[in-house]
Amino acid sequence: MSRPLYHIFTKIPDRYDLINRVITLGMDAGWRKQAALVCLQDRPGRILDICCGTGDLSVAIARLADYRPEITGVDYSQPMLEIATAKAGALNPGSNIRFINADVGRLPFSDGYFDCIGISFAFRNLTYRNPNTQNYLDEILRVLRPGGRFVIVESSQPKSAVIRFFHHLYLRAWVFPSAYLLSGNKSAYCYLAQSALHYYSAEELQGFLIKSGFKQAAAKRLFFGAAAIHTGVK
Ligand SMILES: C[S@@+](CC[C@H](N)C(=O)[O-])C[C@H]1O[C@@H](n2cnc3c(N)ncnc32)[C@H](O)[C@@H]1O
Repeated sequence: MSRPLYHIFTKIPDRYDLINRVITLGMDAGWRKQAALVCLQDRPGRILDICCGTGDLSVAIARLADYRPEITGVDYSQPMLEIATAKAGALNPGSNIRFINADVGRLPFSDGYFDCIGISFAFRNLTYRNPNTQNYLDEILRVLRPGGRFVIVESSQPKSAVIRFFHHLYLRAWVFPSAYLLSGNKSAYCYLAQSALHYYSAEELQGFLIKSGFKQAAAKRLFFGAAAIHTGVK
C-alpha cells in the first residue's frame, strides 16, 4: 500500500506538540479532552486511538477515565510513538495503555475487537485526497464492534461566511507561517494549511460517514465551527 504522507510524519515530531499549541492558540488540548470524554461516554472496555501521534488523545482518555479501559494507540511513525510511550510512562501505574506501530490500512486486530475508536486531528490525513481512504474506512469498520462508536475531532469549516473568511485568513496568515518557522518543514505545513482550507464541513463529513457504512452520524461544532467532534455508530 502507498503511504503518501509517511515522510511528513516521520520528520516533524521533535517540536510537534509545541507547534500544535501555537497554531491552534492552545485550543487543541481542550478539543482533544472533549473528544476523550465523548469516547468514554458508554464506558467502553477497549478503546483504539488511530493515528495517535505523540499519544495525547490516548493519555487524555486514560486520565479522564474513572475505570480502567484497555487503551491502544497506533501510528506508523516510530518517532511519534517513542514520544507517546514516554508520556504514557509518566501516567499513574494503574493506566492500561500501549502503543503499536501499525498502518491504519492494515490493523493488527481481530474483527469487532474495539468498543470505541477515536482519532484526533488525523482523519483529514486519511481522507483528504488520499488514495487509500476506502481501505482505511474498511479497516476502521472491521475492528469496531457492531454498535461501537467512532469519534473524530478534526478541523472543520465555519458555517457563517464571515467567520469562514477569517478562519481561512488565520490558516493562511498564522498556521502556515508559524508552523513553517517552528518546524522548518515547508511541505508538511503547506499540506496542513491547504488540506484544512479545502476540507469537509461538518454536514459533509456526517454524509461521508454514512456513505462509508456508519449507521448513524452526528457532529458537535467547536469554536464557531473551526473544528468539530463527529461521532459515527457502526
Ligand atoms: C496530524 S498527526 C495527529 C496526531 C495525534 N492524533 C494528535 O492529536 O496530535 C497525524 C498522525 O497520523 C499518523 N498517520 C497518518 N497516516 C497514517 C496511517 N495510514 N497509519 C498510521 N498512522 C498514520 C502520522 O504518523 C501522524 O502521527
